[in-house]
Amino acid sequence: MENNSYQAIVAEEFNGIFTQSVKEYFIKDLPDNYVLIRVHYSSLNYKDALSATGHKGVTKQYPFTPGIDAAGVVVNSKSPDFKTDDKVIVTSYDLGMNTPGGFGQFISVPAEWIVPLPSNLTLKESMMIGTSGLTAGIGVHKIITHPFLSNDINVLVTGATGAVGSFAVALLSHLNINVTAATGKVDQTEFLTSIGAKEVVHRDNINNVTDRPMLSGKWNASLDTVGGNMLDAVLRQTEHNGIVACCGNVLGNELQTSILPFILRGITLAGIDSGIALMELRKTIWHKLSTDWKLPNMQKISREISLTDLPGEFQKILEGKQVGKVLVKLFKK
Ligand SMILES: NC(=O)c1ccc[n+]([C@@H]2O[C@H](COP(=O)([O-])OP(=O)(O)OC[C@H]3O[C@@H](n4cnc5c(N)ncnc54)[C@H](OP(=O)(O)O)[C@@H]3O)[C@@H](O)[C@H]2O)c1
Repeated sequence: MENNSYQAIVAEEFNGIFTQSVKEYFIKDLPDNYVLIRVHYSSLNYKDALSATGHKGVTKQYPFTPGIDAAGVVVNSKSPDFKTDDKVIVTSYDLGMNTPGGFGQFISVPAEWIVPLPSNLTLKESMMIGTSGLTAGIGVHKIITHPFLSNDINVLVTGATGAVGSFAVALLSHLNINVTAATGKVDQTEFLTSIGAKEVVHRDNINNVTDRPMLSGKWNASLDTVGGNMLDAVLRQTEHNGIVACCGNVLGNELQTSILPFILRGITLAGIDSGIALMELRKTIWHKLSTDWKLPNMQKISREISLTDLPGEFQKILEGKQVGKVLVKLFKK
């Protein structure tokens, strides 16, 4: 098995320019990380595009195979927790950052990173969810367990056509929660309504507002995937005792905002880090996503491509042009 070859996307640097292509590797070249997995599906995340295009804050050494998500079957295990033919999911930790990732047909990872595939999900469905669905799930979990909110709440989702945003819109709607989708792509209004948005607003209506420290409260809760001045504007438009769950930094790493929504309205700002989320929380959310939170319309928010199609998708996600989730099939059959 170790002498077998496999295909993977490789990001390489030539004179400061990064390229991505499909290349042949040997299984024996993978790090010896206890559990060898044949990857059936992966999915594209914003972080993968950063890794693929040379962001050293994500990936330090090249050539490198990105892909923070993988779902597949155990081929070989030195861990007592997993055995050959187990179906498993790996998302984040160091996968696709500095450990060769899910855009290769095989990965080798520590057992501690692995979640057994929930019995009610296929490998394909698990990657229609992937890190973005898990992130949306953690955000929704933080919102609906927030102690000060009633059942009858209005929730705003920003970056709504993105992978995290569209999953969050669909999940909140599935839970019978009123959801407003904020987007820069108003031509996607029909898509957003079809996955459950009650209202679709142009994102400028949210973040092109005066810099008064507090504005009239419009939502009880928000899931912000964008960060920067969008997050600031959302915080200042949240109702008394509301919660803003944030995961993204599309608009950068800085947050300049007013303290007043926190001390006069009791707003909670809750961070989401699905990268190193506690295994217990991961398992809880995966279980929910495979049972009462399982979306009947998952295929509406994902589009399947093959490994060879991937290089064309990185720039698109960096430019905020993706709609929904990109599912990657690793083997033709
Ligand atoms: N913390 C975590 O655990 C975690 C996990 C997953 C992802 N993330 C982060 O969450 C963010 C979203 O991830 P994703 O996978 O959903 O990415 P994505 O699919 O690219 O979605 C991002 C969305 O942001 C919106 N956007 C893009 N440029 C914008 C701009 N200039 N101003 C305002 N909005 C803009 C776009 O939505 P509209 O066109 O609809 O406005 C875009 O579709 C990224 O920063 C990612 O790194 C964090």
